[in-house]
Amino acid sequence: MSKTILITGGAGFIGSHLVRRFVKNYPDYKIINLDALTYAGNLENLRDIESEENYEFVKADINDAEALRKVFADFQIDSVIHLAAESHVDRSISDPLAFIETNVLGTANLLNTAKEFWKDNMEGKLFYHISTDEVYGSLGESGYFTEETSYDPRSPYSASKASSDHFVRAYYHTYGLPVVISNCSNNYGSHQFPEKLIPLFINNIRHKKALPVYGKGDNVRDWLWVEDHASAIDRIFHKGELGETYNIGGNNEWQNIKLIRMLCKIMDDRLERKEGESEELITFVKDRQGHDMRYAIDASKLANELGWEPSITFEEGLAKTVDWYLENDDWLQNVTSGDYQKYYQEQYHSR
Ligand code: NAD
Ligand code: DAU
Repeated sequence: MSKTILITGGAGFIGSHLVRRFVKNYPDYKIINLDALTYAGNLENLRDIESEENYEFVKADINDAEALRKVFADFQIDSVIHLAAESHVDRSISDPLAFIETNVLGTANLLNTAKEFWKDNMEGKLFYHISTDEVYGSLGESGYFTEETSYDPRSPYSASKASSDHFVRAYYHTYGLPVVISNCSNNYGSHQFPEKLIPLFINNIRHKKALPVYGKGDNVRDWLWVEDHASAIDRIFHKGELGETYNIGGNNEWQNIKLIRMLCKIMDDRLERKEGESEELITFVKDRQGHDMRYAIDASKLANELGWEPSITFEEGLAKTVDWYLENDDWLQNVTSGDYQKYYQEQYHSR
């Protein structure tokens, strides 16, 4: 069956993997990628598919109601997969209002537009909201986030994502908008902006720069390869129940310092440096304010109800990721010129 899908934030990290997957795997679908191209959005991520017939790019801000109406009217959108967001926790600590603007108001604006265009016939429509496990707060040494875990966001980023999730559910209950939500753990892979832990540290090791480990490095994250996230989104988009929430995770918890040591080893090997050379770059710096200790996802609902499982191990995924960054130095050079240097100075200078 043919569909016209609006993917927001498709020029970003996860969005570009998702757009590529849908454009390639579903030639009968029309994919409209709407993105404001903030510092995190990069059309280079999609060069290989940009001239496909079933793909269209629209540069617009999700806060621009007129622009959204025009896209819905021009393309007769019947599905939305909403990824556009401010996504970096550290930036949310220094500029929380930008997160409220995009993640809360922008999402509400998009919901409103979908409601306006679909109100007379909700049949076959879907508003799929992509969210994060951070809405559930921080775990101690044991336990997992399930779909029933109460919301307890603790950073401006997670508070803004939690708020957007609430609005999505409110539109489902109040107006009958057909929605589905997924909450995913930490993604890693190619094309991730080097402000996030893994690409930042790959880039720093490459240039023999300090590796700024927050606090003691004992925080734990549950890592998922980005293409596995895209495959989970594909499954939920096609098979998920309306009004439901699905947690997505890799069942792959790593303490930051252990992950960083493994990354250092892979990099020593790839760069033919002596064993232990990259580890010498590890520098413990002032902790992130309000740093969540541990995230861990129970993804059994997705496995049991929709039959989804991650496809590769962390060791394989991390090695592929390192190789991609080393083979795509131009990409890294491009995104780390200009404003990135200013960001880096402000973020790490005083730690
Ligand atoms: P990203 O920062 O790499 O990309 C975000 C994209 O959104 C960029 O292309 C940017 O230009 C665009 N954008 C930002 N503000 C916009 C606006 N006002 N209007 C239109 N476009 C705008 O983010 P990501 O890591 O790919 O995350 C995508 C989504 O997945 C986010 O909603 C995030 O909360 C969620 N998520 C991310 C992770 C992760 O580990 N990265 C995990 C779980 C959930
Ligand atoms: O859990 C899902 C979330 O994962 C997503 O919703 C977010 O969009 C995504 O950014 C990510 O959030 P984190 O804060 O967990 O990711 P980040 O890569 O920023 O940090 C991972 C861990 O590494 C965290 O414990 C903080 C630590 N860290 C990070 C950076 C950037 C460092 O020790 N040093 C650093 O310089």
